[in-house]
Amino acid sequence: MAAARLLRQTPARDRILTSSDASSGVQPEPQQPEPQQPEPRRKSAAWWDDFWARPLAATGRALTCRRTAEEALRLLAPMLEQASVSAPPRVLDLGCGHGDLTPFLLAEPRLTISALDVSAAALRQFQARCAGRFDGRLALVRGSVYELPFPDAAFDVVVSFGYASAASYDGAEREVARVLRPGGVAIIDYASPSLYHWIGAPGATCRWYRRFRAPGQVTYHFGRAGLREHFAPAGLRLEAVRYLNAYPPLERIARHGWSGTLDRWLARLAGPILGRVLLARVRRA
Ligand SMILES: C[S@@+](CC[C@H](N)C(=O)[O-])C[C@H]1O[C@@H](n2cnc3c(N)ncnc32)[C@H](O)[C@@H]1O
Repeated sequence: MAAARLLRQTPARDRILTSSDASSGVQPEPQQPEPQQPEPRRKSAAWWDDFWARPLAATGRALTCRRTAEEALRLLAPMLEQASVSAPPRVLDLGCGHGDLTPFLLAEPRLTISALDVSAAALRQFQARCAGRFDGRLALVRGSVYELPFPDAAFDVVVSFGYASAASYDGAEREVARVLRPGGVAIIDYASPSLYHWIGAPGATCRWYRRFRAPGQVTYHFGRAGLREHFAPAGLRLEAVRYLNAYPPLERIARHGWSGTLDRWLARLAGPILGRVLLARVRRA
């Protein structure tokens, strides 16, 4: 299928890999090997292909995507203000999935995005959903977060979302730092153990919390100090933290038009307690 052709490539500014691109001379690398997952505890590309083949039924997914993009753009505002039309910020979206969230970011006309994922199935769906949109501002790339197919300092911004975003995987921070230019920023989300988790599933939350608090395990999911510790060896400095998904986990609320406003206020008033997602902004020295 022509639309399914996806490339592993250096960031292609000003171009989108559409079905018409695919049928007009853009060639996939021959016999491209599956991107490897050097981190043994992580799920394989095949697992993610299977995941993306199933319909998603996550509660409040649309609201989460909308709110994540909104907060991310807020965190990027200082950089966007300095950007010029002739040199828009080059953004890498790591673990973009099938394109639920990236289009919300592209609503900001100053952004040009390379969206990368390890799953060919996710990228095929992304391609089908976005073909013909975002003229010249979106490129889809297949690759692994542990071995990014880009030169050093290729991006001004790296973003990664999804509650367990690809860039939050242990070890991924080194590649994030490598592809960021000095002074560039990354915005990465993490799951946060909110009060709702403790009330809804205390046993599971306790086990989850202990697992990440155990000696030798990453602790950065929980709070600023852990995040600082996690990013420092890679040369990334934690600058800001935002919380979201602070609204009660009820499908009916998530569907209402005012749910975004409710989430914004609850996150502002009690983010560290109620927010189920933590958004971190880090800067490369
Ligand atoms: C939780 S999903 C988030 C998708 C998307 N960012 C969103 O918010 O809708 C995580 C994504 O990371 C991708 N992924 C998993 N391991 C990866 C890796 N090593 N390199 C790149 N992407 C990976 C998965 O295929 C999946 O699409």
